[in-house]
Amino acid sequence: MEGSDPIFFTYASIYSFMQFIDLITQKNRIRSSLLQRFEAILDHGQFIMGPEVCELESQLAAYTGSRFCVSCSSGTDALLMPLLAKDVGPGDAVITTPFTFIATAEVISLSGATPVFADIDPATFNIDPGCISGAVREATEKGLNPKVLIPVDLFGLPADYESLDTIAAGHGLWILEDAAQSFGSSTHGRRAGSFGLAAATSFFPAKPLGCYGDGGAVFTDDAELDLLLRSVRVHGSGADKYSNDRIGINGRLDSMQAAVLLEKLVIFDEELAARQRVAEAYGSRLRSKLAVPAIPDGSVSAWAQYSLLASSGKERDDIMAALLKEGIPSAIYYKIPLHLQKAFSSLGYREGDFPVSEEMSRRVFSLPMHPYLSEEEIGKICSVVAACV
Ligand SMILES: Cc1ncc(COP(=O)(O)O)c(C=O)c1O
Repeated sequence: MEGSDPIFFTYASIYSFMQFIDLITQKNRIRSSLLQRFEAILDHGQFIMGPEVCELESQLAAYTGSRFCVSCSSGTDALLMPLLAKDVGPGDAVITTPFTFIATAEVISLSGATPVFADIDPATFNIDPGCISGAVREATEKGLNPKVLIPVDLFGLPADYESLDTIAAGHGLWILEDAAQSFGSSTHGRRAGSFGLAAATSFFPAKPLGCYGDGGAVFTDDAELDLLLRSVRVHGSGADKYSNDRIGINGRLDSMQAAVLLEKLVIFDEELAARQRVAEAYGSRLRSKLAVPAIPDGSVSAWAQYSLLASSGKERDDIMAALLKEGIPSAIYYKIPLHLQKAFSSLGYREGDFPVSEEMSRRVFSLPMHPYLSEEEIGKICSVVAACV
């Protein structure tokens, strides 16, 4: 997911001819329309928050079924902005999963609040609704005010919002959906980006819908929050740019990135269908060998990652080494759960606190996943994996 991982790219470029995520084939498809868009931007000269940004926001809101979309400069800022807008800060607890990318919990600390973790469901890798009440209790015992729940739609699969909505309401928590990896997915007829009081997504290039730099968006149905988010995005601006009502950030999206996203949206549904075909092909060949992703009835993944579980850490390392030898990149999301990251050592968690996340970290690995994987490539990947188990 963190496609800029230097070790991964070094391995991939030295040893591999296969792409983990193929952005080149995609770029070749949309190249001429992109160039037209870029030329229009050069001509109108509104490089930041130009007309492409407004066009994108209305298309994204319609896509997710949300009333409002506030685009911004990254998925991290998309998570931070609702916390700032809702005055989440010192003394507040924000509950989330330890099995995610650092940004999910980093923004909690940046806001001044305290992350409190709840373990995951081993079948979906998403936060386990049965662990939320324990996390609320832990927060209260620490003298904190439990305020927000941030479920993550990991690897492209929406979290269990039917259960989470009820549990969060029971504890007086509002939900911020981390849909950084799940734009395009759905559960029970609702698209990712439409859950909770607000939802955040990322347009990092390796995401299912990615731009050619950093970008993100916040979604909400709440008109008041929409206005606050627009203020937070531009340094807490008030009536104009130079009257400032609150502390905000420089979180604007530029017109070039919006143009890229608009052109990628044209082919997005087709690409999602192709990702689904790749996932089905992997599943049918590997199901008898390894634990393949479990998609609950009624859910459709955006397949940001195709993540499997080996039976042990040793087996995982053997499979990844065999793949690398054949020029096939693979990756581990996530090697260290957040409660064991040095950055969060002050929270006082220890090994053994979240046993499911820790176990997944030892055994999980991800295979190449993008819409342009050929049958031949899928066959080669599966036969290397199958030969190791
Ligand atoms: C689950 C999750 N949350 C948040 C982010 C942050 O997004 P960005 O890299 O656009 O800041 C990412 C990005 O990798 C992510 O995977």
